[in-house]
Amino acid sequence: MNYEKRMHEKARAIREKGHAVIMAVESSCDETAVAIVRDGRELISGEIATQIDIHALYGGVVPEIASRSHVEALDPLCDRALQKAGMTPDDIDAIAVTAGPGLVGALLTGVSWAKAYAWALDKPLVPVNHIEGHVSANYIAHSELQPPFLCLVASGGHSHIVHVDGYGSYTLIGQTTDDAAGEAFDKAARALKIPYPGGPLLDKLAETGNDRAYSFPKPHTQGKYDFSFSGLKTSVVNLTHNLQQQGKEYVAEDFAASFRRAVVDHLVEKTMLAARDTGAKTVALAGGVAANRLLRREMEMQAGACGLKCYMPPMSICTDNAAMIGSAAFYRLMNGEIAALDLNAQPSLKLLMRGE
Ligand code: KG4
Ligand code: ZN
Repeated sequence: MNYEKRMHEKARAIREKGHAVIMAVESSCDETAVAIVRDGRELISGEIATQIDIHALYGGVVPEIASRSHVEALDPLCDRALQKAGMTPDDIDAIAVTAGPGLVGALLTGVSWAKAYAWALDKPLVPVNHIEGHVSANYIAHSELQPPFLCLVASGGHSHIVHVDGYGSYTLIGQTTDDAAGEAFDKAARALKIPYPGGPLLDKLAETGNDRAYSFPKPHTQGKYDFSFSGLKTSVVNLTHNLQQQGKEYVAEDFAASFRRAVVDHLVEKTMLAARDTGAKTVALAGGVAANRLLRREMEMQAGACGLKCYMPPMSICTDNAAMIGSAAFYRLMNGEIAALDLNAQPSLKLLMRGE
């Protein structure tokens, strides 16, 4: 029997069983990660090799260096994940990998590795959309969470409000019309001379600042549930410039706090509006920006005040990790979605959503 046919047979057998131990690989940007996940919900072991120290030397992610670092990290991470799980490759039912979106070279390292590993083990290969992975981090963290729910997905490249209709099924409610929220945090951090990685460090600095010290314009969008961050980003650059030209010092903590307040208010306001209008009973956060301390506090508070259940992954799996990929892969596998060995990296892969 040829490879493809054999893999579909194996995937069907797994589906009938309804259980799967999945080894997942994530390499879309600057974190290499391997995790072993049971039934889409239980993280058995998860390993991450961060490249922050290397890219910090350049003030941002250098794609070529990211790809090389992934290649070096994948084998040892896989060995460690198996060892920590007390498992051998025989215990793995399928291999999952982030196919996109992300940096093409970085994605290719993970995709190539996963294809080779799946072929060597003679196990099905499951391609995963990175954004779906972020949403699925909530399934790892909260065993009781089931669709439907409304989810704010905010990362370095994306800012969406999606309605999760079912596993792997989404309706687009709103999206950014320009920059992503994480990108805005990173650019503001650069203007404030905060080193890479800007977003998390700006968040930390903001914790001790006065969020009313500087005022930022409230973003306006045509779409009721859309976002816009480019005006806020330009304001940071202009404000810091003007103060410098007048020979005035700005208080970085206050600046960070005021900017963070403006971004978070915008994110929460639109999400709560969408929740109200769609009649959602549950809201969730996902993506790197979900690690933002103020966003977490505000969402919890405002959702609570409206009687909504509010879920968010622990900070450790808000930013890129492989546990979330293993979770998303389980539901795709249960839907019979596996890849052939000609799977390619898809840097602009979109999450299929109704309403787009
Ligand atoms: O999801 P992620 O790890 O990678 C992408 O898929 O893009 O998100 C990274 C983004 C970066 O822009 C980073 O600055 C932002 O998430 N981020 C934060 C925080 N932690 C990560 N932004 C604000 N506050 C944080 N604590
Ligand atoms: Zn991400």
